[in-house]
Amino acid sequence: MEKFNRNTPYNKLPLLPPNTNFETTKILRKTIDASRALAQLNGMLTNLPNPTLFLDTIHLQEAKASSEIENIITTNDDLYKSLVADKKFDNPATKEVISYKEALWNGLQEIERRPFISTNLCIQIVQSIKKNTAEIRTTPGTALKNAKGETIYTPPSDETAIREKMANLETFINGKDSIDPLIKMALMHYQFEAIHPFSDGNGRTGRILLLLYLKLEKLLDTPAIYLSEYIIKNKVDYYTKLRDVTENNDWETWILYMLEMVEFTANKGLQRLKDVTNLMEEMATEIKEKLPKVYTKELVEILFRLPYTKRQFLIEAKLGTPKTVGNYLMDLEEAGFLISEKVGKEKLYLNHRLMLILEKK
Ligand SMILES: Nc1ncnc2c1ncn2[C@@H]1O[C@H](COP(=O)(O)OP(=O)(O)O)[C@@H](O)[C@H]1O
Ligand SMILES: [Mg+2]
Repeated sequence: MEKFNRNTPYNKLPLLPPNTNFETTKILRKTIDASRALAQLNGMLTNLPNPTLFLDTIHLQEAKASSEIENIITTNDDLYKSLVADKKFDNPATKEVISYKEALWNGLQEIERRPFISTNLCIQIVQSIKKNTAEIRTTPGTALKNAKGETIYTPPSDETAIREKMANLETFINGKDSIDPLIKMALMHYQFEAIHPFSDGNGRTGRILLLLYLKLEKLLDTPAIYLSEYIIKNKVDYYTKLRDVTENNDWETWILYMLEMVEFTANKGLQRLKDVTNLMEEMATEIKEKLPKVYTKELVEILFRLPYTKRQFLIEAKLGTPKTVGNYLMDLEEAGFLISEKVGKEKLYLNHRLMLILEKK
């Protein structure tokens, strides 16, 4: 392998698949663990009466954490409020997190229409995250720096070279081979980040691709996993292990990291789903008991779609006239199920018990 120099564009970045044995016993064992955890999560999701009910919330958590990895920081409260309220919030970080969620959603729709991950799809994703017209880098000068401002990695430069590497990545991702998809997912994430095709947004686009890939490979029927939860907790390792592939050809440690990410977040997601569905049943029973006239299954579902709700959501679900559903919400608050807050001209109602589960680390 060519000696790596962190200050010059790494146009020698090897193409995929790597020219080393990455199917070691350790990796294959870990692949089994990660696949099992993922299958359990998938089973739980498939058995839910309404599998897409929690999707928005899970995607928002993913968007928030993935953005936070890039130091774009918002709070759950601000995020969910901005999403539900008519009032326009102007916190730029929150806006960017919401754009991320939309980019993820659009990407998933696109994969449904056309099950293929392409360079153009990546461009579409980065443009919708950044709300601009970003393209593949054409000018030199992109470098990854550490907190001290020292360059740690300089990605390949020259548009043609970048497009060639992206074309190889595209062929690798969509091609048929005998490599386990979870291992492929690890390989492709490194490669995408090492190519670093855009001047910004590469980390986030690369992490959106992970979810799209799980969908493409049909490993999750509902793409409801919060992978960045692991990365944000193990951020230093994320950076050092990416570097170790480049500098020491250490694929094994990187792949194990990515497999642990899948296993950890699948287990964690499963537990959280259990907590949320238990809470939902509990609240349904309590509401039925205390407020039998207010209770409907549909109403309880609305209270769990996002942590905040408002009158308009109940009207749209045809649960009653504006006056009736307004009374429902007031009754629910009086009985302690919701907490209201005035935001702009409207009142938002927080399902605080749900928020507590989402905030639990
Ligand atoms: N040494 C490295 N080699 C390759 N990619 C890296 C390295 N260190 C970090 N990265 C990737 O670069 C991302 C940051 O790139 P950037 O374009 O700023 O993304 P974003 O705008 O989404 O913040 C990180 O999230 C990580 O995925
Ligand atoms: Mg950035």
